[in-house]
Amino acid sequence: MAPTKTPSTFNALFFFLFFILILFSICHSSLVYSLPQKQEENQQFQVLNVAASIHKTLQVFSKTTPPSPTITAAASAANSSVFSVSLHPRISVVKPHHQNYSALTISRLAYDSARVNSINHKLQLSISQTVHQRLIQPEDLQSPVTSGESQGTFEYLARVGLGRPVKEFFMSIDTGSDVSWLQCQPCDFCYQQSDPIFNPSGSSTFNTLSCSSRECNSLKINGCTDDMCHYYVSYGDGSFTHGDFGTETVTFGRSGSVSNVAVGCGHDNEGLFSGSAGLIGLGVGSLSFPSQIKATSFSYCLVDMDSHSSSTLEFNSTPPSGSIIIPMVYNPKFDIYFYVDLVGISVAGAKLPIQPSVFQVGSDGTGGVMVDSGTIVTRLVPPAYESLRDTFAKHAKNLHPTSGYSLFDTCYDLSSIPDEVEVPTVSFHFSGGKTWLLKSKNCLIPVDSRGKFCFAFAPSDSISIIGSIQQQETRISYDLAKKLIGVSPDKC
Ligand SMILES: *[C@@H]1O[C@H](CO)[C@@H](O)[C@H](O)[C@H]1NC(C)=O
Ligand SMILES: *[C@@H]1O[C@H](CO)[C@@H](O)[C@H](O)[C@H]1NC(C)=O
Repeated sequence: MAPTKTPSTFNALFFFLFFILILFSICHSSLVYSLPQKQEENQQFQVLNVAASIHKTLQVFSKTTPPSPTITAAASAANSSVFSVSLHPRISVVKPHHQNYSALTISRLAYDSARVNSINHKLQLSISQTVHQRLIQPEDLQSPVTSGESQGTFEYLARVGLGRPVKEFFMSIDTGSDVSWLQCQPCDFCYQQSDPIFNPSGSSTFNTLSCSSRECNSLKINGCTDDMCHYYVSYGDGSFTHGDFGTETVTFGRSGSVSNVAVGCGHDNEGLFSGSAGLIGLGVGSLSFPSQIKATSFSYCLVDMDSHSSSTLEFNSTPPSGSIIIPMVYNPKFDIYFYVDLVGISVAGAKLPIQPSVFQVGSDGTGGVMVDSGTIVTRLVPPAYESLRDTFAKHAKNLHPTSGYSLFDTCYDLSSIPDEVEVPTVSFHFSGGKTWLLKSKNCLIPVDSRGKFCFAFAPSDSISIIGSIQQQETRISYDLAKKLIGVSPDKC
């Protein structure tokens, strides 16, 4: 009797252990792959799909021709005052001229450094201007020109209609400037763009603005000949646009149009706008595009900058349900950008020991944290950056460290990872207890096609900037009336 019992007890024990093992693996995989929204805030690690990221870097160069630029704007406006246009990664419109992903990354980062230098330069100027009551001169706004190698510029292009009859154009979007403009015939100088160049004399709705107009007087730099207003805008990386300031009818796909919007008609456009016909200024000032069309809000979702998918730029739509709503902060000394009230950062579920004051706008206008569509890599003031980097590296024990790359000092060799790897979670905390949890791909990005990934943050002298890598695949809504910013991950 007794001897026959032993195998069955053993079997029972074996099946019990087997059952526990199965249960454990189910729980474990659901922990890693499908955590419910609520628990995500305490998530310490996230999966990074290394293989898919590397594949994507190769895809950018595998396409022989970009898709034809005849994409019609997706417009499904439930409310007639909601305007929506399609928004595309530049790479899906203009084929990169670079030989490989590494060269593309280098040029993007060179552009990005130029932009951040220019923001810091403008900030210094506006502070010294308030001190000395000195007017800004055009030459002040030109910081050193970057090397001709830097051909990366604004990474996202909106499809916007202009004039009558309506012609559609791919236009860069920029939350860091106000004046909207496009290249105009006749060209004194025009760079290459993917659409035919706009001809104002072929549009029945284009009108030049007089020198006494409110719009002309709102320009930072203007000029006047024969009562015709001229504008001049430069972007700090050496690029600039100059021409007539006028008004035109703007059409948003099939969702509607607005007449008499102030736009620059640029006859001399030099620099690195790479394929786009011009720019839509989404900044804070009275000349910005949302102010011109009297929008109470706008929102965009930046899809992966290397993908061929698209999303939308919308005006007057409400933020998606479940958005994290955070207050906008105003910097009286530097009223060009949208600032937010960042109070802390977490890595792997633990709050970093950073004084919230390092993120605040100082009484002299320095510091603060802005959200910018045109900056690629998030910049943090040194104490915050160093704490974030060191803590991330400490928790990223399973990643093989390697040498830095361009402006990145923390990189990993993931070439031996067959598919996926876990990386520490990074979250931003805002006033009011709001948390924005970044995905692994918002933190570690491939810089070449050989498996080198870098921690996509960098230090900045005086201002912190939340850049587009961290905003990717998240809808950012700017409620201009209520002065709130909505953050909605996965709501493209
Ligand atoms: C459209 O939007 C406006 C302003 O946001 C709002 O007052 C109005 O109720 C909306 N109409 C519909 C049908 O949703
Ligand atoms: C990428 O291109 C650059 C120049 O365009 C070249 O110097 C470099 O060797 C290339 N790298 C690879 C991995 O092919």
